[in-house]
Amino acid sequence: MVIDLRSDTVTRPGKEMLEYMIQAPVGDMVLGDDPMVNELEAKASGMFGMEAALFCPSGTMTNQIAVKIHTDPGDDVICSKLSHIYQNEGGGIAFHSAASVTLIETESGVFTGDDVLASIQPDDPHKPRTRLVSAENSVNMGGGAVWNLEELRKIAAICREKKLAFHLDGARLFNAIVKNHENIHDYGELFDTISICLSKGLGAPVGSILLGNRDLIARGVRLRKLMGGGMRQAGFMAAAGLFALENNIERLEEDHKHARKIAEALKGCKWIDHIAPVQTNIIIFKLIPALNASEIVKILKDDDILALDIGNNRIRMVTHLDITSDMVDKVIKSIKSTRFS
Ligand SMILES: Cc1ncc(COP(=O)(O)O)c(C=O)c1O
Repeated sequence: MVIDLRSDTVTRPGKEMLEYMIQAPVGDMVLGDDPMVNELEAKASGMFGMEAALFCPSGTMTNQIAVKIHTDPGDDVICSKLSHIYQNEGGGIAFHSAASVTLIETESGVFTGDDVLASIQPDDPHKPRTRLVSAENSVNMGGGAVWNLEELRKIAAICREKKLAFHLDGARLFNAIVKNHENIHDYGELFDTISICLSKGLGAPVGSILLGNRDLIARGVRLRKLMGGGMRQAGFMAAAGLFALENNIERLEEDHKHARKIAEALKGCKWIDHIAPVQTNIIIFKLIPALNASEIVKILKDDDILALDIGNNRIRMVTHLDITSDMVDKVIKSIKSTRFS
């Protein structure tokens, strides 16, 4: 059996989720008729205490709609250099919003209120106008690092004072919330828009949700259509999302436990130079210079273990719903074998 640690996006819906999807009453989402989409949007906005929600096919779409809602062409977005909206959405900030970025460089992708203050462009016609701050929690390319809620409160206060919008790419927000035992409503209070993914740790096959106030989400409805995200009987997918929100949040702790166990085993390996602190379900490690990440990924593959070469001689492993304790033991056995040294 293949142990797929490339991402938490690889999960397949289990029997119960599939049964829930198949029985879903559906309608035309674009016409506002799909009962499951409506129920999912109402549930998500209720969970966060936000006014409205928008079901979209992907987290890339929810993020890019948010950037477009909050900016005009020529404006500037403050975000981490590691952030998905900048690194991994096909240049969408430039393409969809014709906006520029001011990047904050930190090792984990988590930044501070002072970093934001230092990144705001001066009021000068030579400069782009800063309009949006975007945070990512947890930070995918920061090894699943999570934010401190107090620091987010500071940044939110700065955004209010400077009249900047504040967006959260919460593709893995529930991992952060479960890790820190936080209250979901606290996030709803801090951000103008939040994107959450149903198809990562929560295990649904498709879908993300953009949360915000009624006006912002009404603009989002138009942009979703413009970007080609106006799905019709999307209720089958929304049903999977509802199932995921109801059943798969608390269990994320299990994935975190598995990730910590793998990281502990990696710590003892001489062929590893550095492991980013493991806080949630993502393990990123750097190999010693003599080794090559793509070769190590190939060796793991021979043991039916899939991991991702993410560049700079680094490898990423992600634990998720389809990874069992037995699989974790098998991974540990493989990485402890002497073939790597
Ligand atoms: C942090 C983060 N944001 C957004 C996305 C985009 O989600 P999607 O793959 O649904 O477009 C991802 C995908 O991996 C992600 O890791």
